[in-house]
Parts: sequence; C-alpha cells; structure tokens
Amino acid sequence: MQYNFDQIIDRSGNHAAKYDERKQKFGREDVIPLWIADMDFRTAQPIIDALAARAQEGLWGYTARPASYFEAIRGWQKRRNGWEIAPHLMSFSLGVVQSISAVVKLFTPESGTVLIQTPVYSEFYDMAEAWGRTVLESPFVEREGLWTVDWEDFEEKLRQTDLFLLCNPHNPLGLVWTPEELGRMAELCMRHHVVLFSDEIHSDLLFHGKRHTPVATLSPEAARYVITGISGTKTFNLAGLQASTVVFPNVHQKQLFDRFWQRMDIHRNNAFSLTAMEAAFTQGEEWLEQLLPYLSGNFDFVVDYCRNRIPKIRTQAPDATYLMWLDCRGLGLDDDALRDFMIHQAGLGLNEGRSFGRSLSGFMRLNAACPRSVLEQAMGQLEAAVNRL
Ligand SMILES: Cc1ncc(COP(=O)(O)O)c(C=O)c1O
Repeated sequence: MQYNFDQIIDRSGNHAAKYDERKQKFGREDVIPLWIADMDFRTAQPIIDALAARAQEGLWGYTARPASYFEAIRGWQKRRNGWEIAPHLMSFSLGVVQSISAVVKLFTPESGTVLIQTPVYSEFYDMAEAWGRTVLESPFVEREGLWTVDWEDFEEKLRQTDLFLLCNPHNPLGLVWTPEELGRMAELCMRHHVVLFSDEIHSDLLFHGKRHTPVATLSPEAARYVITGISGTKTFNLAGLQASTVVFPNVHQKQLFDRFWQRMDIHRNNAFSLTAMEAAFTQGEEWLEQLLPYLSGNFDFVVDYCRNRIPKIRTQAPDATYLMWLDCRGLGLDDDALRDFMIHQAGLGLNEGRSFGRSLSGFMRLNAACPRSVLEQAMGQLEAAVNRL
C-alpha cells in the first residue's frame, strides 16, 4: 500500500495535545504546533484495521495479555536490531517515562543522584526530581554543531551517581551512538556500580544508513546490567494509547518493578493498546519504510531553507528521531525574548532549548513530523520574522 504523508489531516476534533494545549503552552491558539513529539500522520493501515475491528466488537472488558503480544515485540527487536530478548525479563509499562520514574524510585536511595547528559529529553530531569533525587548534568561539548561526550566529566560525575539515564538514540540532538561509545558508557557504569537505564523509544526512527545498537546487545556483561525502555508509540504514532515495555537484566529487578505497579493495580494493557501494538510490530514495517524517507526529506527541506534563507539559524538533519535542534544564537536574543519571538513574531509553537539543558541558551527544538507543506508555511513565517528583527 502507498501512504500519503503530504495529506493534511484536521486534528481539531482529535483531542490532540499538540493542538488543544497550545493556549496553555504558548498563550495563544494560532501558532503552528511543532512541539510535543507525536506526528501529524495517520498510522499504518493494518493498525487502523485491527483497532477498527476491535472497536466493532463493542465489548472491552478487562483484557488478558496473550503470549503473542510480547512475542510480537521480541520478533521486531530480533529482526531489526538482532536483539534476542528473554521473555521472562519483559514487563509491561504504561510509558517509558513511567518506567523511568519507577526506576528512579526503586533503584536509587532516597538521597540519591541521577546523572543525565544534557541537553536531553526534559522528563529525565522531571522524573528524577519528582522523587527528590539530585540531578547531575554531564553537558555535551559542542563544536561547530557537533555534540560529543566529555568523557572526563562523564566519568567524574558517575563516581557520585546512583543511576544514569541514557537517551539512545538521542532526543533532542538526533544522535545515534556508536557501539564503541555505548560500550564505553556501559563499561564505566559497571565499573562505578551505577544502574544504567537506556531509553530506546526513538530507536526505529533512524536515517542516513545508521543502525541502532541496543545497549543490552553490546556484551553478555552489558545484558546483565542494563534496564531498557522500548515502545512502539513513537515509531507508529500511538502515544495516546499508552503502552511500552521494559526489559530487565534479571528477575530480581523485574519483580521489584512489577510489584511497584501492582500496588497501584497497573499491570494490564487496555484493550486497544494491546491490539495496536501487536498489529504494529507484526504488520507495521511497510508503513515505517515509507515514513522514514519522507521524514528525511522534511529534514533536508528545513536544513536547506535555513542555510539559504535564514543563515542566522543553524541546524542539521538528525540521524535519529523526527526532532530538529535549531541553533538560534545568531539571532542575538536571550531565552525569554527568543521564546516570545517564536510565538508572537514567527507564529511557531516550538520547544525551548533550555527545557532540555537548564544552562543552555539560544536553542529551540522543532518537530518535523508533519506534511511538508506545513513546514513550508512554518519556515516562511520564520524567515519573515527574522527579516523583521
Ligand atoms: C526520549 C523519550 N523518552 C520517552 C518519551 C515518552 O515516552 P512515553 O510516552 O512512552 O512515556 C519521549 C517522548 O517524547 C522521548 O522523547
């Protein structure tokens, strides 16, 4: 089947947070929403068909999870990443963020410390702080738009850390870590007895021939060490269905995690997430293979537009995710002024760079998962606003 990602879909009756929360987030409802990480595309037809059939049943009582559910996820990981996941080490979780929250609570002491590499997905700060843990930041070093790990700083901080939250691949920088980089991070965590959680939610959204390496596949030692969060919600645009998976390195940690959620009676999929995820991981590949080149074309469009018409804003095509990191330092605005400029002058709803790295200034994140014509409109508005500055 041929999918049309150029199609504009009216999400106004869709209760889409990306649209309906604009007033709350940006103070006005008319910005082009290029913020929260979901896509303005319909998902794969087999998922729609499976959900429609489920909806037609008209009976959605408590739902048992069949073995085929985790089998579908295992099959996907094996096919795409060569990862053989042991079924008895997999747990259901509502979302990767919920998994992170539980891991912070369960695997760090009350006065514990969580290490993050900044800039990074802002929930990494929020979930650590939600449990009163201290956040340690190891900032990436940036040279000419290239961001790399400061290994000396990273190891130094690890010495004072209980849990390291890794974003693999990386939001918002779009980095795909090499096996060598991942191996070094894992080895250092093991050496300093730091729990390693690898958030691999974006691992299907890879470009430019890059390959994803699950940390758990690096070595038998790493497999016995790392806790991994995976999900189909980013890949197939199913975030509103709320289902993800955690893969543990041992039964003991899995039991602690499962018990934590059982206390709140959270352990079942809802009827629709169950159906959607199984369809996605067994029949979603064709859609994904068409989505990726479309997204890549969107990145190239934005990169070329900035280079040719808005050179004060610098960006690059990410190797992973559909999120673009805009270096707006050339505009010479402080962060409050930059935020106001994007909202009120350019009419764009973007994520502020400082939410991903609290000591950062002058960056914005743009979600490029929308029809190309929306990006054309957005870049035109941005260019006009910059010209008026
Ligand atoms: C790195 C990362 N982890 C987790 C999430 C959200 O995961 P979930 O919806 O499964 O909680 C996002 C969403 O943007 C993300 O970028």
